[in-house]
Amino acid sequence: PVPGSLVIAVDGTSGSGKSSTSRGVAARLGLRYLDTGAMFRAITWWLLREGVDVHDAAAVAAVADRPRIASGTDPLAPTITVDGTDVSVEVRSDEVNAAVSPVSAVPAVRSRLLELQREVIGAGGIVVEGRDIGSVVWPQAEVKVYLSADPDARAARRAAEEGGADVAATQQSLLERDRIDSGRATAPLTMADGAVHVDSTHLTLDEVIDRIVGLASQAAHED
Ligand code: DC
Repeated sequence: PVPGSLVIAVDGTSGSGKSSTSRGVAARLGLRYLDTGAMFRAITWWLLREGVDVHDAAAVAAVADRPRIASGTDPLAPTITVDGTDVSVEVRSDEVNAAVSPVSAVPAVRSRLLELQREVIGAGGIVVEGRDIGSVVWPQAEVKVYLSADPDARAARRAAEEGGADVAATQQSLLERDRIDSGRATAPLTMADGAVHVDSTHLTLDEVIDRIVGLASQAAHED
């Protein structure tokens, strides 16, 4: 494949560094970037605003196709909008963090977003981060990465990103999301066939980006 049409799938647990890594890889290679977690967060934000009980799967499924969700794919300035309103900041709230995993387990939510995700990926040239990209959304991706890091490292990074949030509470929230995301029936977090496992615990961000850029240039030279 030509480098400009590659699809690079980056899956992994919450706080493993997927976003910084994926954006960095996309920026280095001149590719687009899609944060599928932000799409699940956007639906969750909308459900909370509408007063829908996020633990009532039938109620969530009944309205899952109502909000219009759009992702901006510039790796230097990604955006997520709901019905035209930019909610990039709102979707990172504690309320959304606590509700997004149960919402993501609802099959109607997943099938709705799967369609949108495939539309955005289109002809490729994109780094896509999530939980099920290499396994379900785009199993034909030329490069598949499963990114992990020890829970202590993940919690410390995420708490720092959130401006000095409590590390223990952050770790508990990450582990709770991992538990639900890995245990759900539909498209659970798993290492996809053909994925390369990168453990970022003892690597710098640049080292992780270098690894993936290396995998991408290898893939671009194969057919
Ligand atoms: O990557 P993130 O923390 O922003 O993702 C938020 C939630 O969205 C995560 O807890 C599970 C869900 N998610 C998913 O189920 N499938 C994806 N491809 C991406 C995210």
